[in-house]
Amino acid sequence: MLRDVKTDASYNATLQRFKPIADHINGLGAYLAAQGTPAELIPQAAVPATEGYVAPPLVGVWASAPYFHNGSVPTLDTVLNSPQRPEIWARNHRDPCAYDLERVGMAYKPVSRAEFAESASRAAGKPFISQVATDHGALYDTQAFGHGNQGHTFGDHLNTAERSAIIEFLKSLSGPDM
Ligand code: HEM
Repeated sequence: MLRDVKTDASYNATLQRFKPIADHINGLGAYLAAQGTPAELIPQAAVPATEGYVAPPLVGVWASAPYFHNGSVPTLDTVLNSPQRPEIWARNHRDPCAYDLERVGMAYKPVSRAEFAESASRAAGKPFISQVATDHGALYDTQAFGHGNQGHTFGDHLNTAERSAIIEFLKSLSGPDM
């Protein structure tokens, strides 16, 4: 699945590395069970056996931006149009829930690599609760580890009208009473 969808694999790879710890916890569970520990107190851990991510149900997806497992893509129209995904993007964190109902997702401003570097140099060495550090921390850099916005290119071949139609359909998915 990861091979087909091609979204950022880092999170999954990191999770797979926890398998020895999960096995260890389950071994401890068997020991505790043999000691007569009540089942509800026995720890259990599992790492998914197969690699990949499970897409959440798309009911209400219009309201759950940003998208993909790592929140790397701010709007539905860019989920369906990968060349238009911003490499670095900023929410207005003075209004962090601002929503764009046209593109459907987070209202955002694309940030250039030069602006990002300038923001980083302004924030360097400042206390993390300072305004400049907070401003810098609110930028999403898709080149950072685990933050990649690649993959899921299934909507790229659609024209604007087709993409809008799918977005309207996704907006209509609003639960059991839809
Ligand atoms: C036009 C067709 C498609 C639409 C409208 C669509 C829509 C979406 C949306 C909106 C998301 C983001 C969900 C979220 O983050 O809450 C998503 C994620 C996902 N979709 Fe699709 N999808 C389409 C085709 C496909 C196909 C063909 C596959 C599999 C071959 C697929 C597999 C996935 C997976 C695995 C994710 C989760 C990826 C991740 O979180 O990294 N999708 N899809």
